[in-house]
Amino acid sequence: MAETEQMTSPKQRVHDFWNAQSCGEVYAVGQTLRDQYEAQRAARYALEPYLPQFARFHEGAGRDVLEIGVGMGADHLEWARSGPRSLSGIDLTERAVEHTRARLRELGLQSRLTIGDAECLPYADASFDLVYSWGVLHHSPDTPRAIREVWRVLRPGGTARIMIYHSRSIVGYVLWLRYALLAGAPRRSLADIYAHHLESPGTKAYSVEEARRMFAPFRSADVRSQLSFGDLL
Ligand SMILES: C[S@@+](CC[C@H](N)C(=O)[O-])C[C@H]1O[C@@H](n2cnc3c(N)ncnc32)[C@H](O)[C@@H]1O
Repeated sequence: MAETEQMTSPKQRVHDFWNAQSCGEVYAVGQTLRDQYEAQRAARYALEPYLPQFARFHEGAGRDVLEIGVGMGADHLEWARSGPRSLSGIDLTERAVEHTRARLRELGLQSRLTIGDAECLPYADASFDLVYSWGVLHHSPDTPRAIREVWRVLRPGGTARIMIYHSRSIVGYVLWLRYALLAGAPRRSLADIYAHHLESPGTKAYSVEEARRMFAPFRSADVRSQLSFGDLL
């Protein structure tokens, strides 16, 4: 293990990875800030057309909504547009919160944005009707703890919509071919490949069964897998 890797905590490494470049920044091209955010928004929903169907942004209307891991803020903008009673957003990185703040300001929309940790949410119990998080909690070192936090801040009868990575994915097998089989290390596990070669250090992925177990405290959990554009790369 490299010396720098020993000196920084797993959470700090996740922070540093995403604070160097937020997810989707490569698509943010254009003359003005507004053009750049619009280009990123268009690319995002073209590449992941199932995302708005999953999020059902319109159901934010009149509700207290929290998004965990806002990233560049494309989805957060949709929650703001839905007319929530209140909107809150949190991300581990300054960069993501700055992007999201700038994006909402451009359109005169409001949210209480905070730099903070999904594993220790700075909100009282039972604060939200709807908690949303897309592609975030599997990057946090203690994913089950972050899921317990979602449960804690949800009101009874509230809804969480959470996307985490599925372990049995095409992208996982392709990475395994490259970094295990073709690298002469066929015994390397898929979990190790995800931790070292999929986005931030320590990324995890879960089976449907494992996800059901993590969401067991919820009154009901509908866990499904979705073929994504990442699988088709
Ligand atoms: C793959 S990006 C997804 C961002 C956004 N949801 C999207 O779909 O574009 C992961 C995001 O999760 C954030 N993140 C990772 N661990 C976190 C934690 N423990 N608490 C809050 N945010 C976290 C990162 O800073 C990063 O912005």
